[in-house]
Parts: sequence; structure tokens; C-alpha cells
Amino acid sequence: MTDTAGRAADPAADGTTESDRLPVDPALAEAMAALDTEAAAARHADLAARVRRANELYHGQDAPELTDAEYDALFRDLVALETAFPQLVTPDSPTQRVGGAPSGTFDEVRHRRPMLSLSNAFSHDELRAFDTRVRRVLALPPAPEPAPELRYVAELKIDGLAVSLRYERGRFVQGATRGDGSTGEDVTANLRTIRAIPERLTEPATLDVRGEVFMPRSEFARINAEREEAGLPLYANPRNSGAGSLRQKDPEVTARRLLSAWFYQLLEEGADGRQDGTQSGALERLEGLGLPVNPERELAPDIEAVIAFTEGWRERRHELPYETDGVVVKVDRADQQERLGIVSRAPRWAIAYKYPPEQVETVVEDIVPYVGRTGTLTPVAHLQAAKVAGSTVARATLHNLDELRRKDIRIGDRVILQKAGDVIPEVVRPLVERRTGDERVFEMPDGCPVCGTPVVRDEGAVRHYCPNPACPARVSQEFQHFVGRGGMDIEGAGWAVLTQLLQRGLVRRRSDFFRLTVEDLMGLDRFGAKSAENLHRSIERARRRPLGRIINALGIAQVGWQTAIDLGQWLVEALPPRDDEPVGGPGGWLARASAFLKDTATTAPERFEAVMGVGPTVAATLTAYFSDPSTRDALDELIEAGIDAELPAPRAAVAAAGPLAGRTLVVTGTLEGFSREEAEEAIRGGGGKPSGSVSKKTDYLVAGENAGSKLAKAEALGVPVLDESGFRRLLAGDDPSV
Ligand code: IVH
Repeated sequence: MTDTAGRAADPAADGTTESDRLPVDPALAEAMAALDTEAAAARHADLAARVRRANELYHGQDAPELTDAEYDALFRDLVALETAFPQLVTPDSPTQRVGGAPSGTFDEVRHRRPMLSLSNAFSHDELRAFDTRVRRVLALPPAPEPAPELRYVAELKIDGLAVSLRYERGRFVQGATRGDGSTGEDVTANLRTIRAIPERLTEPATLDVRGEVFMPRSEFARINAEREEAGLPLYANPRNSGAGSLRQKDPEVTARRLLSAWFYQLLEEGADGRQDGTQSGALERLEGLGLPVNPERELAPDIEAVIAFTEGWRERRHELPYETDGVVVKVDRADQQERLGIVSRAPRWAIAYKYPPEQVETVVEDIVPYVGRTGTLTPVAHLQAAKVAGSTVARATLHNLDELRRKDIRIGDRVILQKAGDVIPEVVRPLVERRTGDERVFEMPDGCPVCGTPVVRDEGAVRHYCPNPACPARVSQEFQHFVGRGGMDIEGAGWAVLTQLLQRGLVRRRSDFFRLTVEDLMGLDRFGAKSAENLHRSIERARRRPLGRIINALGIAQVGWQTAIDLGQWLVEALPPRDDEPVGGPGGWLARASAFLKDTATTAPERFEAVMGVGPTVAATLTAYFSDPSTRDALDELIEAGIDAELPAPRAAVAAAGPLAGRTLVVTGTLEGFSREEAEEAIRGGGGKPSGSVSKKTDYLVAGENAGSKLAKAEALGVPVLDESGFRRLLAGDDPSV
């Protein structure tokens, strides 16, 4: 099966995936392993975004921008990076998608009733607080007074993918994923391949059922064993591979993955007489209709019985043939559910109790300092590979020497490892009682492990760093940062390409990128005329970038994305562009800005503190950067090489005119279509102000998946909460509440 570009349209359909054809190149993997964890994470985000975009263009819009070779090179970089840093294998990484079917491949289905999410409880006391709220709203006496009319159903929380199925007159007609809760993807054909899902109910009922599609552990193990044998990156966890399998473009692929399902919610109108108006009754009815319902559930007389249920499953859940990450607690009676109602897309009559992060024991085989972009040496624990919370972990950052000493982690120690937020692996503590005396205390090396320059630790500072600006580890990561997505965003300038450009001396300074010719690029490995032209074109496109990104691309120490934008904003306000003035070029605004920055650094550095969010420390770094002759020329060289900037409108203008004028918004949780930075940029672009904390002055909270305490706080303060689509409407200047 091929499509316009000749690439297998759905590579998984013939039993292979994208990465089957792309075994990891050991040299590439080694190069990746040299990155520090911070740089690796940034690089991962960048690569994953590019692959996702390529997939989107290719599968979704049938308009690929990359050649097959370029795509493969990009994907290979990602696989190599994930091989070196298994902790970066996130559920949404493109490597985790077989065939990479993107959203947009499926038709949209509007849910008849929104698919809600649940609030979380992380302790027994939070469950008791939930009970207190429920009793208060229902005007029942507070615990420990008995309240026989209030009962709870405790169900295992299945770690899978939520789906909603429509049966009409007893026949399965349509099934969809949750999507954003209002609109999901039509995965009917794929759901039909799941044996646990009946084509026909035992009676000709018309209804919607909701539940969870999941991959049993045994199937997950089988698939990963196959992948391991083939030298492919492993799926991070069953949830992940289950979701990937269900969202296949080709149902045959789904059919080969043995998925299963449990159902837990019944929406049946006019069913009076067939239902007794309780959740426990609904579950029984679902079973009677022939749908699979998890038997591990309990009708609990009070919250203490629910707590006992959670305790009973805490350890035993690991023996189940499928994964559970908690217990869902629901008020049994439907009339009481109705009185409790829904607050910001989560019912007040239910809560998800989450088990704390899984911990495992492993051994620290070595502690290795990694050199980052700014020279920071980060000690990283090389671990005996251990499975924790469903994935294999072999590396964990120990952050810095102080942190490592505080925890007293030594080479050879047996340690407790956990995944913080079930994503980032963390070494919690050493098992001191298991020490044999052979453990070794880690010392920071005197010389940089890459270039040998004596390592520096500034007075009172935490970090050790390599001060050599020419250190190869630093340089290559600086260049990566420069061409990366938050910087000049040169598409196609992946790790492999960059390494060659540096090794061949084609790029020594940043401005050199913009002097590369098609002929230069044609000399690179795996490059033909077409790929050289494509890369050249993307370099041309990268000449013009928003001012904030150009500043960010410079990679000034302690100046992150946010500060770069604020600095750009401050510059435009301090130096309003003149009507007849070009932006780039030696006589343009950028050149004037560059001179202004040098002047400020040398004559009035305190002025940097007027930049939003910049305090004395960052002001000092800016001063050092713009007064240092060896670095301050970087900007001038870029200007000379023809860099142009898109200037932000002075804040006052946007602030007065944008759809978010004068509003303060807080973003929390994970949004599908925006990274946190992008959401904040969108807010700023609309004239609004992004803020990090919820207060009475907050106009809106934008809440994505897994919103936590900020959501609770917003609700408590009565701050309006928007989901992603509401946020989009608001940005478009529409009423977000419709
Ligand atoms: S009830 C209004 N019951 O957990 C009812 N959800 O964190 C909402 N989930 O989106 C869902 N097992 O995908 C419910 N027994 C169970 C569940 C369950 C897993 C998932 C579901 C939901 C998510 C919320």
C-alpha cells in the first residue's frame, strides 16, 4: 500500500512500522547519549514536534514537505535519542504510534453528552473530604453519623482509552474516542475488531455506553518482546500501545493487537423500569445487555468501606491481567448524582483515587556527569534497567552535586526509584542498610569530561560548569538550540545534519548557516539535490523569525523563552521602529537595537531591570553578555547575514485592542493543541496577560488534561474555567461559554 509519495501509507499494515526500517545507528545513539538530560529533553520535544508535523502533513493533508529520506533521518534521530534516554519515551511520542495515524485521519463525532473527566484524590483524607462535600450538598449529617441513603460504588480505574459506543435497536452503530470531551474521533471500524465488544446486545435497546479500551499486560509484553527482538524502541506502557493500536488508520492492524474493554457508564433515555436509578444497577444492566463490566467492584455503605477497597487493591492490582492506576468512586443513586451536578466538566458525584507512584529497587551502576549547553555538568545515574510504572528506566538525573549529596547516593548503591508524576524517573533514596562498603562517593571531575578544561563552581552557586565556550559538548548543543524550534527553527537541520556541518567546518559561527549554499549541502551524507534544496529553502525561511525567538536563539545563559520575549517587547517599546526604517540589514531597526543593547550594557546596565520578569541576577547576565566583545558580535553577524525580525506590536497597542485585552489567564494541565509556551504566547498575542497562579484577579483558568490544584482553587474562587475549545473561542474573539 503506497500513496502519493511512494511511502507505505500505513507501514504497520504490512506488519512493519516506520522504525522497523530504521534500526538505531550505534554511532548516532552514542552521540545522543552525550547530551545532558536537559538538552536531551529539549531536543526530544523539538524532534517529536517535527515528526508530528511531518506526519500531519503527510497523512492528514497529503501534502508532505519532507522527502522520504529527510523524514527517515528525522525519525531515526528520534529513535536514537529515545534509545539513549528511555525516560523520554512519552505516550505521545511519534515512535509510540504504529503507523503514526494522526488525529484528522478519523471523522469527528460529536458526543450526545459531553464525556466528563474526574477530579483526583491522592490520599484517604482527600476521599473523606469528598464524602464531606457530598454529604453537605445532599444535606446529610456529617461523618461519622450514619447516612444509609448514601452509598458509593467503588470501581477500579482502568488505565486505557475512554470510548463512547452507540447501539441502536441493539446493534453497534458507532464508536468514538473521548477527544476533547465534546468531539471525539470515529473509530467504529477499529472497535469492531475488539472481541469483547458485542456487535449485538441481548435486547434491541438504543443507548450510549462508555468505558475503557485497554491492552492486557500479556499482549503488551508480547508486542514489546517482538519489538525488542526486531531492535525497535519499546512501547512505554500498555495504555500507550493500546491507545496507539485503537487509533490505527487500518482496522486490520487493530485486529492484530488483542485489545479488550470494560464498560462503566450507561446513557439510556426513557429506560425507566429497566433501570433502578443507580450506578450499581446500571452496571448490572450493562452486564445483562452482554457488555463486559469489570467484576472487581463494590457497593460500599460509606467512605470508610471505599477506603478499605482502595487498600485491598493497593498491592493486589499488580496481579491483575490489566493495568489500573486507581479507584473511581461514584455516588450510587442517580437522583443524588443529579443534585450534586457537574462543575467545570467533572461530576461532583465522582472522584478518582490515584495510587501513589510505583517504586522499585535498582542499582546505581555509575554516575556520569553530562555537559549541557551552558556548560552545566549534570550528574546522571546510570541504572540497572528497571521497570517502573510500566516502562523501563535506565537513566535518571541527579540534578546537581548538592542534591546528590543531600540524598547521599553513591555508585553501587541499591536505591529506590520512582516515576514522579509517573513520567520523570527519580532516585528517591539509597538503601543504606544494604551497603556493602564497596560503594563509591561520586566526585565532580576537576576537568570537563568532554574538553578537559578545569571545571568551575561559582561562589555560593549550586552548579558546576565547564567555562570553555569552545567545548565541543557546549558548542554542538548551542547550535542545536540555535536551529531548534524555540530559536531559528530551521527545519531539517537535525542532529545528524548539524554534526556533519560542524565536523566539516561548514558552520563555525551561527551566521554561517545563512551562507550555506545548495552545493555545500549536497556534499552531506544521505543528501541528494532535492534534500539539499529543501534544507536550503528552510534556511531561507528561517531568516525571518519573531524577535523573541531570535533573542532566544542566541542562548544567553538564564534567558529562557519567556525572558527573550519580554526582552524583545521591551526593546520595541524602548526603540519604536521608524516609519521609513527596514527591520533587518545594516541600516535597519535590528542594527539599531544591537547598538542599543551594547550601549545599555556598558553605560546603564540597571536599565535591564526594567524588562518584565528580569531581576538583578538576569540583568547581570544580560550585561555580561552584551558587553562581552566575543559574544556581542553574534547579533551583528546575524544582521549582516541577512536576518530579519518580526517585531511584536508595542504592548500598549495589543493590550488595548486584542480579544483578551486587560484579562489575566492561567493555563494548567496539558492541552492538545498548545504547549504551555504556545498557550501563553497566544494569550499575550491577544492582549491578555498569562499568569502562573490563580487568584481572585484571574479572569479565566484554561484547564487541560490532568489539571490539578489550580483547577480546585479556581473552582473555590469562582474563577471561570475554560477547556481547550473554549480557550480557542475566546482567542477568536467569540463567547467562550457557548
Ligand atoms: S467514570 C462521569 N469509571 O478515567 C464519569 N472513568 O480520570 C467519568 N476511567 O475519562 C468517567 N476507569 O477514561 C469512570 N471505572 C471508571 C473508569 C474511568 C477508567 C477513566 C476514564 C475517565 C478518566 C478520568
